[in-house]
Amino acid sequence: MTQFSEADLTAAVVKSFEETPDPRAKFLLQELVKSLHDYVRKTDLNFAEWQYAIEFLTRTGQKCTPIRQEFILLSDVLGVSMLVDAVNHRERDGATETTVLGPFYVGEHKEMPHGSDISPRNVTGENMFVQSRVTDLKGRPLAGVPVDVWHADDDGFYDSQKPAYATQGPSSRARFRTDADGRFFFRTILPSSYPIPTDGPVGEMILQTRRHPKRPAHVHFLVNAEGYEPLITHVFIGGDKYLDSDVVFGMKDELVANIEKRSDPKMPDGKEAPTPWHLMTYEFHLKPGGGMVPKPMTAEAMRET
Ligand SMILES: [Fe+2]
Repeated sequence: MTQFSEADLTAAVVKSFEETPDPRAKFLLQELVKSLHDYVRKTDLNFAEWQYAIEFLTRTGQKCTPIRQEFILLSDVLGVSMLVDAVNHRERDGATETTVLGPFYVGEHKEMPHGSDISPRNVTGENMFVQSRVTDLKGRPLAGVPVDVWHADDDGFYDSQKPAYATQGPSSRARFRTDADGRFFFRTILPSSYPIPTDGPVGEMILQTRRHPKRPAHVHFLVNAEGYEPLITHVFIGGDKYLDSDVVFGMKDELVANIEKRSDPKMPDGKEAPTPWHLMTYEFHLKPGGGMVPKPMTAEAMRET
């Protein structure tokens, strides 16, 4: 029988993973053990705190459903998501900046014709026309590229957070495919800044620690061109009061768009415009390469069952 002291326990646990066949898995597990043990030593973690942590993580898991991801939210508010993003995108070479995927990449992103109106149902909001273009690093257009978009409504909710999602399905989310000139465009409403969900353990932590739960208004984009790094990003609405205090630390200056307030009678595709309306213009520049492309959450759940 081997008995370990506080001092040699860490080395023993690290060694216990020595025969892990996958070298990367072995490395990740051994480093995780070292970091966790350091944390316990540094904080002199007591039993009540250990139990609270276990219960907190249990509640976080129990809050997850096929359309709700409390663990992504936890990763986001602890800055882990942005740190993973940062270490994987150190050299941008002029490519568009990336940011968090977030917990609302959910369900079907139905391909729609350019110009479609993806406004959320039964919700008021100011009209917005979004025009965009996808290019390589030299500004050459990338054609036929699928671009998934999703955003919150005027009340600050995603479709999957509302009871109507179960019966009416997705809204304010879609897929567009770039044309020969790399362009795509659509209609929607100006999204609002929103609080992350506060009815779960992550939101409780934010409120109890006196942090505010808000994210600055934005539209999510996932641009996935073959032969290029998948681009997971947002375009933020310029002037939002939470740009400097995003609860998930995801804001980057380059991703803030100046949304123009317009009163022209026609939108850029020549169709009649409601008054007034807003114009978002943003170009995405992709870097050659590859990488993992996330799947919307319900799609993952359906594939596994
Ligand atoms: Fe979002």
